[in-house]
Amino acid sequence: MNDLAMDAPYRPAALDRAQQGLLGKPIDRYEAREKVSGAAPYAFEQAPENTAYLAVVQSSIGRGRVTGVDATEAEAAPGVIAVIHGDPRMPTGEGNSRAMSAIGKDEVFHYGQGVAIVVAETQEAARAAARLVAVSYEESPGRFDAADVEVQQDHKLGFLPPVNRGDLDAALAAAEVVIDRTYTTPIHFPAALEPHATTAWWEGDKLIVRSSNQVIGAARDTIATALGIDAERVRVLAPYVGGGFGGKTGVGPEVIFAAIAAEKVGRPVKVALSRRQTAYMVHHRSPTTQRLRIGADHEGRISAIGHESVAYQNDDSAFLEPVPFGTLPLYAGEARRFRTDLARIDLPATGAVRAPGEAIGTFAVECAMDELAEALGLDPIELRRRNEPPRDPTTGKRFSTRRLLDCYEEGARRFGWDRREATPGSRREGEWLIGMGMAAALRGNFTVNAEAEVILGDDGRATVRTDMTDIGTGTYTVLAQTVGDMLGLPIEAIDVVIGDSDLPPSAGSGGSFGAGSACAAAALACEDILAELGRRMNAAPEDMRLKDGVVTAGTRTSPLADLVRGSPIAAKGKTSPGKESQATSQASHGAQFAEVAVNAVTGEVRVRRMLGVFDIGRVLNEKTAKNQIVGGMVWGLAYALSEDGVVDTRNGRFVNPDFGEYHVAVNADVPQIEAYFVEEIDDSANPVGAKGVGELGIAGSGAAIVNAIHNATGVRICDMPVTLDKLL
Ligand code: MOS
Repeated sequence: MNDLAMDAPYRPAALDRAQQGLLGKPIDRYEAREKVSGAAPYAFEQAPENTAYLAVVQSSIGRGRVTGVDATEAEAAPGVIAVIHGDPRMPTGEGNSRAMSAIGKDEVFHYGQGVAIVVAETQEAARAAARLVAVSYEESPGRFDAADVEVQQDHKLGFLPPVNRGDLDAALAAAEVVIDRTYTTPIHFPAALEPHATTAWWEGDKLIVRSSNQVIGAARDTIATALGIDAERVRVLAPYVGGGFGGKTGVGPEVIFAAIAAEKVGRPVKVALSRRQTAYMVHHRSPTTQRLRIGADHEGRISAIGHESVAYQNDDSAFLEPVPFGTLPLYAGEARRFRTDLARIDLPATGAVRAPGEAIGTFAVECAMDELAEALGLDPIELRRRNEPPRDPTTGKRFSTRRLLDCYEEGARRFGWDRREATPGSRREGEWLIGMGMAAALRGNFTVNAEAEVILGDDGRATVRTDMTDIGTGTYTVLAQTVGDMLGLPIEAIDVVIGDSDLPPSAGSGGSFGAGSACAAAALACEDILAELGRRMNAAPEDMRLKDGVVTAGTRTSPLADLVRGSPIAAKGKTSPGKESQATSQASHGAQFAEVAVNAVTGEVRVRRMLGVFDIGRVLNEKTAKNQIVGGMVWGLAYALSEDGVVDTRNGRFVNPDFGEYHVAVNADVPQIEAYFVEEIDDSANPVGAKGVGELGIAGSGAAIVNAIHNATGVRICDMPVTLDKLL
């Protein structure tokens, strides 16, 4: 195993030679044909013989106790195989565990919790019979209104402890200009298009779970814990995933229900949550309150920055939205205070949804910066330039790579920022007020353990194996590109095998760390293969050139296949964080620009165009990277203008848990979007030098729109989303 901790900057020499010239190129998706032809099976499309279907009966109270379950009528309904409740094998521990415990215990922790399951011959029969299960309850009072509960400052939740540097209050009192604003953001549902679906079956004493999941190694462990069996007895498969958005980072109760049902009825069992059920059985993003205080002198030099927030969580989960995470390294300023306080509620768990922290935190700080620029009479980009710190202003660590100033400059040029009118409300086209806004984008870069195996086969083809997932992000493709460049093989000569928890453990898809980590592990495995090829060629690896499956060393040339015939080479690579990861402050960056039109009569907002320039380290594949950035910018648009989950505070029920009432952006909402990269390979991030890209596009994009709305109208909205009623 080529096991490399990031103790120092590192780049494989063979990667620099880019022997096949694949990395960075906008190569089409490896699995494109399977996906567009419908040949790629998703979790619910698995069809083991004799499959039964599962439906979940949900609690109709928000807090209390189940006093009785009468399944008589459901059991007599056509096609019903079993009604299950009172199964004690339900998990304790992280995540949705208490919700999962619901069919095992009497307690109801939140509205919509699973309290029983029905297994039937068809999905229709299961769902119809679920309505016939009569559950009686004893209700008790619950905390359903986050605004009504006491806020805890001392808590251990989340990974981001409070930061207090200098005397914020004194620095604010001494500042010449102070912005003090409180912003609110609502509930966000992850809203992946592919339903949360699972097909589960037992092969002897081994459980096979074909599930729509982002991080399958962790999923295997969670499922094993829930069922009280060894992890070796669980295998999670997820070769194709139709979007994750954070909601598929964990294991939902329906997965455990399917495993238990499959055992009980002795058949494979399938479940797909309905859209409305997803709101209750999958975590959501906590609504937040964020107070931003920024103090500066008359030249715009920031002396004080405070980003203090409140997020909520239920009694059971350890996650807490790291609201100010993106603000920590963003701007200079001596006095600094960052914190997230906790409100406890009796609602489904909150969790990671589309850039936890930065998505909503950068919205608040970037709106506050826009207001500060206006108060100072400074261009918003100039204000940011004046506060670009040479080192991480919170930790004092050096930046690995940071091209934020270049992003501003190139973005301003491409967007035509010089055409912006500084005075709000001064550009009008008929009924429409036109405005431009910008914001910085930042998303922390994480170095994460990842392993991959590469096998150079008999026939000269290479196979890369790791338990990564491709959630629409391009994992298959960038893995093939990495191996191709390392071993000098065309992309057609590479097989990518992912989406199986029996494969070497990767980081999974989450936190924007998947591609960089997985490709780094694959590159390290290839280094060992090159060393072995060198022995067989009797040449030093650095003297070999490999291209199109042919090895050249000095005057000697050999087809790769000849070197491995009868003796394939298998090697493993592993990357992990090390001293360099600790010593540096790492993030992806960008500059976001938006132009909006606001109807002066109706208050309707139309985003006309969006443009961003981003610093993501090495661009592994220009096409898939752009796809992700543009997707993120669309999320930002939806956060700014429409996404808004609402709780009925009387009973903890969601008012709008479906696409009819919870409005994600649709095609008609999305304008022309352009994304560009300033590339600088980040040798401190991981051995392929790629920083996170998956969730960067959402950071700052909402703020650019809200700032553009202010530029168009002179109105500053601090409560998301900006619906037309707030503008009138
Ligand atoms: Mo992402 S919300 O960290 O999958």
